[in-house]
Amino acid sequence: MTEGDGGVKFYRRGDAPEGALQGETVGVIGYGNLGRSMALNLRDSGVDVRVGNIDDPYRAVAARDGFEPVPIADVAAACDILYLLIPDEVMDDVYRDEVAPGLAAGNAMCFASGYALAYGLVPPPPEVDVLLLAPRMLGEEVRHTYESGDGFFTYVSVEQDATGRAWQRLLGLADAVGSLRKGAMQLSADKEATLDLLIEQTVGPYLGTAIQLAFQLGADAGLPPEALVLEMYMSGEMARTFQTFAEEGFYRSTTWHGAVAQYGGFLRTLSLDREAMARHFAETLEDIRSGGFAKRFHDEKQAGYPTLQAIAGITSGDDPMTAAEQRVRDALG
Ligand code: NAI
Repeated sequence: MTEGDGGVKFYRRGDAPEGALQGETVGVIGYGNLGRSMALNLRDSGVDVRVGNIDDPYRAVAARDGFEPVPIADVAAACDILYLLIPDEVMDDVYRDEVAPGLAAGNAMCFASGYALAYGLVPPPPEVDVLLLAPRMLGEEVRHTYESGDGFFTYVSVEQDATGRAWQRLLGLADAVGSLRKGAMQLSADKEATLDLLIEQTVGPYLGTAIQLAFQLGADAGLPPEALVLEMYMSGEMARTFQTFAEEGFYRSTTWHGAVAQYGGFLRTLSLDREAMARHFAETLEDIRSGGFAKRFHDEKQAGYPTLQAIAGITSGDDPMTAAEQRVRDALG
């Protein structure tokens, strides 16, 4: 473990005790985007993995990958460590009906997102370890970066240490899934959930709105829609710019851009209404912290997801940006 100057703790390879998961069975509950990658990585690292899944197409994928998937309740009752890799919005029902009845004293439950713990969807009993191993990587990439040897970044936390072995188990898991090759940072489930929602609900909407408005304005001004989508994301230049933030630093990477881009971009940044933006961000944070957002999302679920259906209608319908992307793909392959 390395403690940075800011007091944040980081973990790398070598921090997991030798044989940390010796004699433990790990039940992967859910074989979706992240579940599949985690199960394969654990198995390739020599861990005794069982897969629990409902009877849906994901179950067939697990069987095709050589697992013998069984109902979630069976895995919950049979394994020492349970890694819950199902969508956050079903966590409360699955925990109550399938997981809780099979939990025994000394088991561990591990989560890939702090959401269920932060908003009380899952009330862990006092006699089990509660762990957070939350990747900062897309599900499929969790597998690819294991295979390439690069690993992926995670947030880790022991939320409850009932056995005295919670950290050993957590670091053993983090090592076996391949995360410690890149590094893990200690962050509580509550902070992880806040951070995740904050960035999704501040940076995400502003970036999305900027792209939509710039497309509309540019197209109205006679710029080819194909060029606009290429410029903003299809060429990969923008993704590369974000990559330079990681490699060079957010401010330091400025030198990658020419004088015209620096001069124009910086001055336009300063002319934005930053106070209005900051106010909106602060209100968003307050809504996340108070549980207001999670409560509304719970109500959305109870109502049968009307808003999510409306969003799906909008994003799957006809629109000029999707049409322009298709014309680029048709022309260039
Ligand atoms: P997903 O949407 O791919 O999950 C599908 C899996 O959930 C399947 O195995 C399916 O059978 C199961 N499932 C769906 N509804 C169910 C229900 N009602 N009852 C029982 N099982 C059900 O989920 P994903 O994206 O893999 O996320 C899993 C967890 O990992 C979440 O907590 C998420 O926040 C976290 N996470 C996901 C990342 C990703 O890139 N996908 C990255 C970091 C964290």
